[in-house]
Amino acid sequence: MISVIFVCLGNICRSPMAELVFKQMVKERGLELSFSISSRATSDEEEGNSVYPPAMKILRAHGIEGGHISRQLTKREVINADYVLVMDSGNLFDVLRLTGGACSDKVFKLCSFTSRPRDVADPWYTRDFERAFSDISDGCAGFLNYVLSEHGEMLGYDSRY
Ligand code: 4NP
Repeated sequence: MISVIFVCLGNICRSPMAELVFKQMVKERGLELSFSISSRATSDEEEGNSVYPPAMKILRAHGIEGGHISRQLTKREVINADYVLVMDSGNLFDVLRLTGGACSDKVFKLCSFTSRPRDVADPWYTRDFERAFSDISDGCAGFLNYVLSEHGEMLGYDSRY
């Protein structure tokens, strides 16, 4: 079992989008039982709130259903995770501040797993939810390929099927 936590500032736009996109990708490969997938906020601004409706609308437009309630990330959750995937440099700074610099070897920007490493710009401010979805999908696909190349054998994954 590989545990993955997607992290952004509010946990109502980018990280729940990434959680639901990645869950769908994992399901399509029949790997649901091999992953624990969740998402969290670095702030408590949106604690208890649902996925922002424009973010949910973009997900549904791409055939992805589901939901999430915003929760702030804890240090213990980082310690227990295998991978903590943040959306931008600000999130990276905030996660490492939370851990006091510990666990830095498991915290990555999501789009560092793509051919074009970049931040996932916050659609809360840019209002470009389609762009965020595209960057997130690219990052999740790159991360899944990376994880399967690193741990595929342990997970019993056979790329021929
Ligand atoms: P997210 O977007 O980090 O992608 O969930 C945001 C949502 C809410 C706020 C900031 C960012 N906010 O300040 O309330």
